[in-house]
Amino acid sequence: MAPITSFIRWAGGKSWLVPYVAQLTEKLEYNNYYEPFMGGASIFFSLNLPKGGCLSDINEELVNTFCAVRDDPNRIINYLKEYKSDEDSYYIIRESEPEDKYQRAARFLYLNANSFNGLYRVNKKGKYNVPYGHKNATVNYQRLLDVGAKLDGFEILCQDFATIAPKIQKGDLIFLDPPYTVSKEDTGFVGYNSTWFSLEDQRRLAGLIDHINKVGAYYIMTNAAHETILEIFKDKGRMVTLERNSLIGGKKSYRGKVKEYIFTNIPERSST
Ligand SMILES: C[S@@+](CC[C@H](N)C(=O)[O-])C[C@H]1O[C@@H](n2cnc3c(N)ncnc32)[C@H](O)[C@@H]1O
Repeated sequence: MAPITSFIRWAGGKSWLVPYVAQLTEKLEYNNYYEPFMGGASIFFSLNLPKGGCLSDINEELVNTFCAVRDDPNRIINYLKEYKSDEDSYYIIRESEPEDKYQRAARFLYLNANSFNGLYRVNKKGKYNVPYGHKNATVNYQRLLDVGAKLDGFEILCQDFATIAPKIQKGDLIFLDPPYTVSKEDTGFVGYNSTWFSLEDQRRLAGLIDHINKVGAYYIMTNAAHETILEIFKDKGRMVTLERNSLIGGKKSYRGKVKEYIFTNIPERSST
Protein backbone atom coordinates (compact mmCIF):
# COMPACT_ATOMS: atom_id res chain seq x y z
CA MET A 1 0.00 0.00 0.00
CA ALA A 2 1.45 3.38 -1.03
CA PRO A 3 2.73 5.78 1.65
CA ILE A 4 0.29 8.48 2.86
CA THR A 5 0.36 11.14 5.58
CA SER A 6 -1.38 10.91 8.96
CA PHE A 7 -5.04 11.89 9.22
CA ILE A 8 -4.83 13.59 12.62
CA ARG A 9 -2.89 16.38 14.30
CA TRP A 10 -0.98 14.89 17.23
CA ALA A 11 1.53 16.47 19.62
CA GLY A 12 4.93 14.87 19.09
CA GLY A 13 3.88 13.73 15.59
CA LYS A 14 6.86 12.43 13.63
CA SER A 15 6.17 13.62 10.08
CA TRP A 16 9.47 15.55 10.31
CA LEU A 17 11.29 12.23 10.88
CA VAL A 18 9.83 10.47 7.81
CA PRO A 19 12.84 11.14 5.47
CA TYR A 20 15.31 9.91 8.10
CA VAL A 21 13.36 6.66 8.76
CA ALA A 22 12.93 6.13 5.01
CA GLN A 23 16.70 6.34 4.55
CA LEU A 24 17.37 4.10 7.56
CA THR A 25 15.01 1.35 6.38
CA GLU A 26 15.54 1.66 2.61
CA LYS A 27 17.63 -1.48 2.30
CA LEU A 28 16.39 -3.24 5.41
CA GLU A 29 14.49 -6.48 5.00
CA TYR A 30 12.01 -6.87 7.81
CA ASN A 31 8.83 -8.79 8.57
CA ASN A 32 6.04 -7.47 10.79
CA TYR A 33 5.85 -3.84 11.91
CA TYR A 34 4.97 -2.63 15.43
CA GLU A 35 4.28 0.86 16.72
CA PRO A 36 3.38 0.66 20.44
CA PHE A 37 3.22 4.48 20.94
CA MET A 38 1.25 5.06 17.75
CA GLY A 39 -0.22 8.57 18.33
CA GLY A 40 -0.89 9.83 14.78
CA ALA A 41 1.33 6.98 13.45
CA SER A 42 3.13 9.23 10.92
CA ILE A 43 5.91 6.68 10.42
CA PHE A 44 3.48 3.78 9.88
CA PHE A 45 1.62 5.79 7.22
CA SER A 46 4.87 6.77 5.49
CA LEU A 47 6.20 3.24 5.06
CA ASN A 48 5.45 0.73 2.36
CA LEU A 49 5.19 -2.21 4.74
CA PRO A 50 5.98 -5.72 3.55
CA LYS A 51 3.67 -7.58 5.94
CA GLY A 52 1.23 -6.94 8.81
CA GLY A 53 1.74 -6.02 12.42
CA CYS A 54 0.21 -4.13 15.29
CA LEU A 55 -0.35 -0.48 16.24
CA SER A 56 -1.14 0.36 19.84
CA ASP A 57 -1.43 3.24 22.28
CA ILE A 58 -2.73 3.82 25.78
CA ASN A 59 -5.18 6.54 24.68
CA GLU A 60 -8.60 4.86 24.40
CA GLU A 61 -10.29 7.51 22.24
CA LEU A 62 -7.38 7.52 19.79
CA VAL A 63 -7.38 3.72 19.54
CA ASN A 64 -11.15 3.60 19.10
CA THR A 65 -10.78 6.10 16.23
CA PHE A 66 -8.10 4.05 14.46
CA CYS A 67 -10.22 0.88 14.82
CA ALA A 68 -13.36 2.62 13.54
CA VAL A 69 -11.50 4.12 10.53
CA ARG A 70 -10.06 0.69 9.70
CA ASP A 71 -13.42 -1.08 10.09
CA ASP A 72 -15.88 1.30 8.37
CA PRO A 73 -14.78 4.88 7.52
CA ASN A 74 -18.06 5.57 5.70
CA ARG A 75 -20.04 5.26 8.93
CA ILE A 76 -17.80 7.93 10.50
CA ILE A 77 -18.22 10.17 7.45
CA ASN A 78 -22.02 9.96 7.81
CA TYR A 79 -21.76 11.34 11.36
CA LEU A 80 -19.22 14.01 10.37
CA LYS A 81 -21.56 15.34 7.71
CA GLU A 82 -24.01 16.30 10.50
CA TYR A 83 -21.46 18.39 12.46
CA LYS A 84 -21.01 22.15 12.04
CA SER A 85 -17.63 23.81 12.74
CA ASP A 86 -18.76 26.99 14.54
CA GLU A 87 -17.86 27.70 18.18
CA ASP A 88 -21.25 26.84 19.74
CA SER A 89 -21.39 23.51 17.90
CA TYR A 90 -17.82 22.77 19.01
CA TYR A 91 -18.67 23.04 22.71
CA ILE A 92 -21.88 21.00 22.30
CA ILE A 93 -19.94 18.21 20.56
CA ARG A 94 -17.10 18.47 23.09
CA GLU A 95 -19.59 17.89 25.94
CA SER A 96 -21.29 14.95 24.21
CA GLU A 97 -20.45 11.37 25.25
CA PRO A 98 -21.51 9.11 22.38
CA GLU A 99 -21.33 5.38 23.01
CA ASP A 100 -21.39 4.15 19.41
CA LYS A 101 -17.85 3.36 18.21
CA TYR A 102 -18.24 5.28 14.91
CA GLN A 103 -19.90 8.31 16.48
CA ARG A 104 -17.12 8.44 19.10
CA ALA A 105 -14.55 8.39 16.28
CA ALA A 106 -16.41 11.16 14.43
CA ARG A 107 -16.40 13.29 17.62
CA PHE A 108 -12.67 12.65 18.09
CA LEU A 109 -11.83 13.63 14.50
CA TYR A 110 -14.07 16.70 14.65
CA LEU A 111 -12.40 17.88 17.89
CA ASN A 112 -8.94 17.09 16.50
CA ALA A 113 -9.63 19.27 13.47
CA ASN A 114 -11.34 22.13 15.32
CA SER A 115 -9.57 22.37 18.69
CA PHE A 116 -6.80 24.81 19.55
CA ASN A 117 -3.56 23.45 17.98
CA GLY A 118 -5.12 19.97 17.59
CA LEU A 119 -4.01 19.15 21.11
CA TYR A 120 -5.41 16.12 22.91
CA ARG A 121 -5.58 17.07 26.57
CA VAL A 122 -7.88 15.78 29.30
CA ASN A 123 -8.52 16.87 32.88
CA LYS A 124 -8.04 14.57 35.90
CA LYS A 125 -11.46 13.04 35.26
CA GLY A 126 -10.40 12.14 31.72
CA LYS A 127 -12.69 14.79 30.11
CA TYR A 128 -11.34 16.42 26.93
CA ASN A 129 -10.80 20.11 27.77
CA VAL A 130 -9.12 21.84 24.81
CA PRO A 131 -10.80 25.12 23.71
CA TYR A 132 -12.14 25.92 20.25
CA GLY A 133 -9.42 26.73 17.72
CA HIS A 134 -11.41 29.19 15.53
CA LYS A 135 -10.40 27.28 12.41
CA ASN A 136 -13.77 26.24 10.97
CA ALA A 137 -12.00 23.08 9.85
CA THR A 138 -13.43 20.07 8.10
CA VAL A 139 -12.18 16.50 8.02
CA ASN A 140 -10.90 15.25 4.65
CA TYR A 141 -13.23 12.33 3.76
CA GLN A 142 -11.04 10.91 1.00
CA ARG A 143 -8.10 10.83 3.43
CA LEU A 144 -10.24 8.80 5.86
CA LEU A 145 -11.00 6.24 3.14
CA ASP A 146 -7.29 6.00 2.21
CA VAL A 147 -6.32 5.60 5.86
CA GLY A 148 -8.97 2.89 6.32
CA ALA A 149 -7.47 0.95 3.40
CA LYS A 150 -3.92 1.34 4.74
CA LEU A 151 -4.95 0.09 8.20
CA ASP A 152 -6.75 -2.94 6.78
CA GLY A 153 -5.17 -6.14 8.11
CA PHE A 154 -3.35 -4.44 11.01
CA GLU A 155 -4.15 -5.20 14.61
CA ILE A 156 -4.93 -2.05 16.64
CA LEU A 157 -4.92 -2.32 20.43
CA CYS A 158 -5.35 -0.11 23.49
CA GLN A 159 -2.57 -1.19 25.83
CA ASP A 160 0.60 -0.22 27.63
CA PHE A 161 3.63 -0.34 25.30
CA ALA A 162 5.35 -3.20 27.16
CA THR A 163 2.45 -5.58 26.41
CA ILE A 164 3.68 -5.86 22.82
CA ALA A 165 6.78 -7.89 23.82
CA PRO A 166 5.46 -11.46 23.31
CA LYS A 167 4.40 -10.69 19.71
CA ILE A 168 7.87 -9.56 18.59
CA GLN A 169 9.90 -12.03 16.56
CA LYS A 170 13.25 -12.12 14.81
CA GLY A 171 13.34 -9.79 11.80
CA ASP A 172 10.41 -7.57 12.89
CA LEU A 173 10.69 -3.76 12.98
CA ILE A 174 9.49 -1.72 15.97
CA PHE A 175 9.22 2.07 15.95
CA LEU A 176 9.26 3.48 19.49
CA ASP A 177 8.16 7.05 20.09
CA PRO A 178 7.43 7.60 23.79
CA PRO A 179 6.30 10.92 25.28
CA TYR A 180 9.36 13.13 25.83
CA THR A 181 8.83 13.56 29.52
CA VAL A 182 12.15 13.91 31.25
CA SER A 183 10.58 16.74 33.21
CA LYS A 184 7.62 19.02 32.53
CA GLU A 185 9.92 22.05 32.69
CA ASP A 186 12.29 20.59 30.08
CA THR A 187 9.72 19.83 27.40
CA GLY A 188 6.99 22.43 28.01
CA PHE A 189 4.39 19.82 27.12
CA VAL A 190 2.03 18.32 29.65
CA GLY A 191 0.16 15.27 28.45
CA TYR A 192 -1.89 13.08 26.12
CA ASN A 193 -3.57 11.09 28.92
CA SER A 194 -4.43 11.66 32.54
CA THR A 195 -1.21 9.94 33.61
CA TRP A 196 2.41 11.00 33.32
CA PHE A 197 5.12 9.00 31.44
CA SER A 198 7.73 8.69 34.19
CA LEU A 199 11.43 7.90 34.32
CA GLU A 200 10.40 4.47 35.58
CA ASP A 201 8.43 4.09 32.31
CA GLN A 202 11.59 5.07 30.38
CA ARG A 203 13.43 2.28 32.24
CA ARG A 204 10.65 -0.18 31.34
CA LEU A 205 11.13 0.92 27.74
CA ALA A 206 14.84 0.12 28.02
CA GLY A 207 13.74 -3.35 29.15
CA LEU A 208 11.59 -3.72 26.03
CA ILE A 209 14.60 -2.76 23.88
CA ASP A 210 16.67 -5.43 25.65
CA HIS A 211 13.96 -7.92 24.67
CA ILE A 212 13.96 -6.67 21.04
CA ASN A 213 17.75 -7.05 20.86
CA LYS A 214 17.53 -10.51 22.39
CA VAL A 215 15.01 -11.87 19.87
CA GLY A 216 16.88 -10.33 16.93
CA ALA A 217 14.29 -7.74 15.85
CA TYR A 218 15.06 -4.18 14.70
CA TYR A 219 14.04 -1.01 16.49
CA ILE A 220 14.17 2.74 15.99
CA MET A 221 13.49 4.88 19.07
CA THR A 222 13.19 8.66 19.31
CA ASN A 223 13.55 10.37 22.66
CA ALA A 224 14.40 13.65 24.38
CA ALA A 225 18.01 14.80 24.01
CA HIS A 226 18.68 14.72 27.72
CA GLU A 227 21.52 13.28 29.80
CA THR A 228 19.12 11.06 31.79
CA ILE A 229 17.88 9.47 28.55
CA LEU A 230 21.46 8.93 27.39
CA GLU A 231 22.25 7.26 30.70
CA ILE A 232 19.25 4.89 30.45
CA PHE A 233 19.66 3.92 26.78
CA LYS A 234 23.42 4.31 26.12
CA ASP A 235 24.12 0.56 25.75
CA LYS A 236 21.03 -0.25 23.63
CA GLY A 237 22.33 0.58 20.14
CA ARG A 238 23.88 3.44 18.20
CA MET A 239 22.66 6.98 18.79
CA VAL A 240 22.38 10.02 16.53
CA THR A 241 21.27 13.54 17.42
CA LEU A 242 18.81 15.28 15.09
CA GLU A 243 17.58 18.87 15.12
CA ARG A 244 14.03 19.95 14.31
CA ASN A 245 11.64 22.86 14.70
CA SER A 246 9.30 22.39 17.67
CA LEU A 247 5.69 23.43 17.19
CA ILE A 248 4.10 22.51 20.51
CA GLY A 249 2.06 25.28 22.08
CA GLY A 250 0.61 25.48 25.57
CA LYS A 251 0.95 27.58 28.67
CA LYS A 252 4.69 28.01 28.16
CA SER A 253 4.77 27.77 24.40
CA TYR A 254 7.96 26.15 23.21
CA ARG A 255 9.11 26.91 19.69
CA GLY A 256 12.49 26.91 17.98
CA LYS A 257 15.27 24.44 17.29
CA VAL A 258 15.08 21.32 19.44
CA LYS A 259 17.50 18.41 19.56
CA GLU A 260 16.23 14.85 19.73
CA TYR A 261 18.01 11.53 20.15
CA ILE A 262 17.43 8.61 17.80
CA PHE A 263 18.57 5.19 18.99
CA THR A 264 18.60 2.17 16.68
CA ASN A 265 20.12 -1.29 16.28
CA ILE A 266 19.78 -1.17 12.47
CA PRO A 267 23.31 -1.65 11.16
CA GLU A 268 24.74 1.39 9.37
CA ARG A 269 25.38 -0.62 6.20
CA SER A 270 21.57 -1.18 5.77
CA SER A 271 21.02 2.53 5.34
CA THR A 272 23.82 3.34 2.92
C1 LIG B 1 5.13 11.15 20.95
S1 LIG B 1 3.52 10.46 20.85
C2 LIG B 1 3.60 9.43 19.43
C3 LIG B 1 3.50 10.25 18.18
C4 LIG B 1 3.48 9.44 16.89
N1 LIG B 1 4.75 8.80 16.61
C5 LIG B 1 3.08 10.31 15.70
O1 LIG B 1 3.76 10.36 14.68
O2 LIG B 1 2.04 10.99 15.81
C6 LIG B 1 3.52 9.35 22.21
C7 LIG B 1 2.27 8.48 22.36
O3 LIG B 1 2.48 7.55 23.42
C8 LIG B 1 1.24 7.30 24.06
N2 LIG B 1 1.53 6.73 25.40
C9 LIG B 1 1.83 7.37 26.56
N3 LIG B 1 2.07 6.49 27.54
C10 LIG B 1 1.95 5.25 26.99
C11 LIG B 1 2.11 3.93 27.50
N4 LIG B 1 2.44 3.69 28.77
N5 LIG B 1 1.90 2.89 26.64
C12 LIG B 1 1.53 3.11 25.35
N6 LIG B 1 1.38 4.35 24.80
C13 LIG B 1 1.59 5.41 25.63
C14 LIG B 1 0.54 8.64 24.06
O4 LIG B 1 -0.87 8.47 24.18
C15 LIG B 1 0.98 9.22 22.70
O5 LIG B 1 0.02 8.98 21.70
